[in-house]
Amino acid sequence: MIVSNRLPVDHVSGEGGTAEWRTSPGGLVAALEPVMRQRDGVWIGWPGLADQEFEPFEADGIDLIPVPLSAAEVEDYYEGFSNDTLWPLYHDVISPPSFHREWWEAYQRVNRRFADAALAVAAPNAIVWVHDYQLQLVPKMLRDARPDLIIGFFNHIPFPAYGIYSQLPWRRQIVDGLLGADVVGFQRVADGGNFARAVRRLRGYETRGNIISVPIDDAAAAIDGAAADADEPTAEAPMRHRSVGRRGHAIRTVLARPFPISIDAQEYQRLAADPSIRARAAEIREELGNPRVVMLGVDRLDYTKGIRHRMKAFGELLHDGAVSAEDVVLVQVASPSRERVDAYAQLRDEVEVMVSRINGDFSELGHPAIHYLHQGYPREEMVALYLAADIMLVTALRDGMNLVAKEYVASRTDQDGVLILSEFAGASDELRQALLVNPHDIDGLKAAIVQAMEMPRRERMRRMRTLRKRVLTHDVQRWSATFLDALTREDHHDPANR
Ligand code: G6P
Repeated sequence: MIVSNRLPVDHVSGEGGTAEWRTSPGGLVAALEPVMRQRDGVWIGWPGLADQEFEPFEADGIDLIPVPLSAAEVEDYYEGFSNDTLWPLYHDVISPPSFHREWWEAYQRVNRRFADAALAVAAPNAIVWVHDYQLQLVPKMLRDARPDLIIGFFNHIPFPAYGIYSQLPWRRQIVDGLLGADVVGFQRVADGGNFARAVRRLRGYETRGNIISVPIDDAAAAIDGAAADADEPTAEAPMRHRSVGRRGHAIRTVLARPFPISIDAQEYQRLAADPSIRARAAEIREELGNPRVVMLGVDRLDYTKGIRHRMKAFGELLHDGAVSAEDVVLVQVASPSRERVDAYAQLRDEVEVMVSRINGDFSELGHPAIHYLHQGYPREEMVALYLAADIMLVTALRDGMNLVAKEYVASRTDQDGVLILSEFAGASDELRQALLVNPHDIDGLKAAIVQAMEMPRRERMRRMRTLRKRVLTHDVQRWSATFLDALTREDHHDPANR
């Protein structure tokens, strides 16, 4: 059973007041949807519209259980606490987070609703896999109600350093919420380390390697020798991963470690081989006026993505005369996201001012410097764009993983193309053959763009081959199998399995 804020489909109002279902935005759905299409199980989540109740239904062979949110809950839980408190906080306060007690109240209430929805359908010993920052209280709610459940949690976004995390007024409750899981998964090694530190500082629990020892009954943790026998758990105590801590307390162990997420790489390869998509890629280059170099950015319009930084670098290259609009174009797909949150509305204005300014200053008739597309596109069109792009720009200021980087690599079955990748995106841990950049260093970013433009074909192919090997062997099927294997293994607290 998957529990995430979003269902894989989003109920949106189409033209003329009609309603339709569309694929939901973002990396979480992109990663989980192919996994769930290949497995049995249900997916519990919000269908994307306020004040709408839907019966359970099926989409693309996946059973979906919609959880309704009122308009006030969308404001306080989703736009407020999730996306104006946790999101900026967890992304290193790139935008200042807001702390409001009413938002926290709504967050708890809505987490409870998701937990109840899961409890209503969970069979004995069911595996429940909870996802992302919107639902961090759900693991503990599930465990308190049903110790028989096997509970996993995966955090798709970064987990911040303690100095930042500790700003959160509800920092203890969130740590406790997550520790309700048997396995807490993160994208990067650093995220897991930050979490373990928060656990030690806020709760004083012992952490050894990836294993956290959580007292089973915090108040009266000391138990006598007979009850401490791991084979005879007390009635209230969860069976799984129960043992005795160093001070003779009953503990359960929680495994907290990185599981870097990925994409359905085969699917991208398949689309990239499709003749109609290849023809579309050629057509895109023609539509762009056959420039020597096509650069591409693909992001949700989010301040964590570094869209302004890459535009600044491109604008300066045009200004310096290092490139001309006839020679090099930037295509920026910026799909609409969280538009009612102030920081997002503001970012949209800033990006649009930059695009107009750069185009006003440097475009030539018939040759705009930047093609800015404030829309989402189907996967087929995205693959055509990836194939048409000589250079892919991923310049996130902070990003859990960034699946766009992996999609680009998986789509380049021709072994060509250069990936410029921020070292602040989780993907940079794996994609070492990209041109790694610090997006705050505009000169460094400009130098990387020039290097990419001038890179000999042999070097491009050598790098791309290595990148492809990584993405093709570490796909999302492997990610989910590894996570579920860790979750269902009975002996993860055993030092031999660390
Ligand atoms: C990121 C988050 C997801 C989220 C997605 C889209 O990938 O990790 O949890 O679903 O962005 O954002 P949205 O607010 O539209 O769900």
